[in-house]
Amino acid sequence: MTDARSNSAKELDSNFFQNADTFFRSNQHVALTFDDVSLATRYSEILPKEANLATSLSESVKLHIPILSSDMDTVTEAKMAIALSLHGGLGLIHYNMPAKTQVKEVSRVKRHIQGLIQDPISVSPDLHVGDVLDLIEKKSFAFRTFPVVDPSGKLLGLLSGKVVKERYRNLPVSQAMTAREQLITVPESEVSRDPIKTADRFFTEHIGIHKLLVVDQDDRLRGLITLSDVEKIMTEATSGRKSSRDSAFRLMVGAAIAPVRKLSGELDRDRIVSHVGHLVEEGVDAIAVSTAHGHTRGVGDMIQIVRDAFADLTIIAGNVTSGEGVEFLADCGANAIKIGQGSGSICTTRLVAGVGIPQLTALYVASQVARQKGVKIISDGGITKSGDITKALTLADAVICGSLLAGCREAPGEVVEIDGKLYKQYRGMGSLAAMKMGSATRYGHEKLDAARKVTAEGIEALKEVSGSVDTILSELIGGIQSGMGYLGAAGLKELRERACYIRVSSAGLKEAAPHDVIEVSTKKD
Ligand code: XMP
Repeated sequence: MTDARSNSAKELDSNFFQNADTFFRSNQHVALTFDDVSLATRYSEILPKEANLATSLSESVKLHIPILSSDMDTVTEAKMAIALSLHGGLGLIHYNMPAKTQVKEVSRVKRHIQGLIQDPISVSPDLHVGDVLDLIEKKSFAFRTFPVVDPSGKLLGLLSGKVVKERYRNLPVSQAMTAREQLITVPESEVSRDPIKTADRFFTEHIGIHKLLVVDQDDRLRGLITLSDVEKIMTEATSGRKSSRDSAFRLMVGAAIAPVRKLSGELDRDRIVSHVGHLVEEGVDAIAVSTAHGHTRGVGDMIQIVRDAFADLTIIAGNVTSGEGVEFLADCGANAIKIGQGSGSICTTRLVAGVGIPQLTALYVASQVARQKGVKIISDGGITKSGDITKALTLADAVICGSLLAGCREAPGEVVEIDGKLYKQYRGMGSLAAMKMGSATRYGHEKLDAARKVTAEGIEALKEVSGSVDTILSELIGGIQSGMGYLGAAGLKELRERACYIRVSSAGLKEAAPHDVIEVSTKKD
């Protein structure tokens, strides 16, 4: 009797809440995206904090969280990539910069030593305290203590936050600073082995000192470690947060590459191989062949060029939204394929060109072929909240975020103030401004065309400043884990297996967000 009852309950549920195959195939005449569906909750023995978010993009690129930052010039440079990797994800450095600069950005991530600020902001002894106060205001620095160095980088003293005050405005830095002979420093050779342990010991032994200055054998400033960073890192270490590391324990990073062509229009094999070679020398972990239309001869040839030259390199390629597109890129040699056309928050591809497939249907179709081909898929674009990521991960191996990260302090670009609110620029790589900087090739145009007349497929926008990557990722991870708890999924494999979907009406969508109340914000900055 109990069995019969539970069987009928199960049958009833499965009629309404369908697994991916039944659901997407029975909705095959309509393209669905995140807000069109909701996931059914399932019996669970999984607490959200136990849900494991580990994923992989290839044999060598294994991540602790399935989140990548987008290869856009207002989202990912070294700072963003470092932050993503420290949290267990991966940053894809954009290519709207000279090839040499991109190699340098990759190298900054690979050489990043957690806790050691390698290029600390320093000041010259000739300035006045007032100049330093103006600098802090102009650059919105959140700190007030600065090493003082001469033009060759030699350490002359430390300007303590205690004297960086209006009342000392007219005092020369050389007088206000604590002089070199009173400073306790640590040689670079001592720090490089285990900077955090060295700093931890240093701060315990030197009560009241909150900054550790690292110098080389010529007494040139080589870095700075702050007590607050060390304490944060030590708390993180005990909280179980894991970073994405390569086999040499360096942070992982990816870099996007453009289909560089000769004047004849043919792909420039030598330049492509040479640039990727330099990235590989610096230790890049993945290359992303990033274009708006990945199911093209140019992208296929590009992947083959890179694959032939670098057999073991992880190649991410895209973007496509069809099964044939996935098959093509997989056959050309890609390990992970970006799915998404026209779904990005700054995209106008669907409006301008009339093409593109809403995200969830595209992911379902792509996932069917990806499984057969043994490649991974990454959902790229359209993520506006953690619930979207949970839904994407029922079909994909990872997601790429642009808009959600563009307001973080680790994103490139200055903060601008408008009517008392702080914003950062966020623009589509298919916007005219970005294409002029080089991303035109991503949209099938030559770089120069952008200065003449091409149709933009993206807009220029602003994002409200949203704090640090740490805050945003913690919220996203918490949301995904919560979703996994509701579905009884211990890991992403179980999430894919246990997901059951139902379509949501427009009234249902309204019901899903706070309604009929006045929200009181309790968020801290
Ligand atoms: P989100 O929604 O996270 O999307 O802001 C980021 C993704 O959008 C894609 N992208 C574009 N797509 N025109 C487009 O059609 C553009 O100008 C553009 N710029 C970026 C890209 O895949 C990115 O990761």
